[in-house]
Amino acid sequence: MRIDVLTLFPEIFSGYLGQSVLKKAIDRGLVQVLLHNIRDWSHDKKHHKVDDRPFGGGPGMVLMAPPVVECVEAVQAQAEPGRLVMLTPQGRRLTQPIVEELARHQRLLLLCGRYEGFDERIRLILKPDEISIGDYVLNGGEVAAMVMIDAVIRLIPGVLGDEESSCLDSFSGPERLLDYPQYTRPRCYRGYEVPAVLLSGNHQAVRRWRLQEQRRLTAQRRADLLQHGLSSEQCEHIVETPADPPSASGQ
Ligand SMILES: C[S@@+](CC[C@H](N)C(=O)[O-])C[C@H]1O[C@@H](n2cnc3c(N)ncnc32)[C@H](O)[C@@H]1O
Repeated sequence: MRIDVLTLFPEIFSGYLGQSVLKKAIDRGLVQVLLHNIRDWSHDKKHHKVDDRPFGGGPGMVLMAPPVVECVEAVQAQAEPGRLVMLTPQGRRLTQPIVEELARHQRLLLLCGRYEGFDERIRLILKPDEISIGDYVLNGGEVAAMVMIDAVIRLIPGVLGDEESSCLDSFSGPERLLDYPQYTRPRCYRGYEVPAVLLSGNHQAVRRWRLQEQRRLTAQRRADLLQHGLSSEQCEHIVETPADPPSASGQ
């Protein structure tokens, strides 16, 4: 997959691109991330200005249409056209199904805003897929673009090893439930025992317990995700069923 990031602050990405899963994916040629500075398309050759005061008054500065539109068009033209995503709090909210949809593209262009945001004509001309990473306002689209890259690349075949497969994660799988509780060594810590079923060696029982826990946790914490035919009574029953209570010796 090729990801083009269009930003006024390409330097923000260097640490992130050079670490961990993303670095390995880049080194192995599974992902290519190219950074483009919108300022290079400024019509102001002296100060490289890309923003100006809003018509009608009001605080702050607005990203001007010409450098942004021309930057996007020039970058699009460098390869097979990709899906253009504008990071904006006014977009549809990013969810795992949207991440899955984005991961199916061979090429993504991520347009990062700054200041008070984009001149409206940028949206009108480019017709981007407008996406928000949540109902809060960031200073710029760069962190939002990193969130999107991070979530998308996990789904590219070969990026995660089998042992880190993404298909069992929260919001994934057929029911899109939250993940089940995980345990590792030691078997007992401060009085909290690992549930016996996980030590039983009975794979079917483990699978059943995990699915039960996923449904219970989801009903308890994110009932909005339960959309696969559970009746409200079933839902209440799941919420009321306690998880593994800690042993009496507690702390
Ligand atoms: C300070 S924000 C502009 C906020 C805008 N005035 C508003 O209230 O909708 C500057 C830039 O940060 C990015 N940004 C801020 N919050 C975001 C969010 N929740 N999701 C995606 N991008 C965001 C966008 O690219 C935006 O253009």
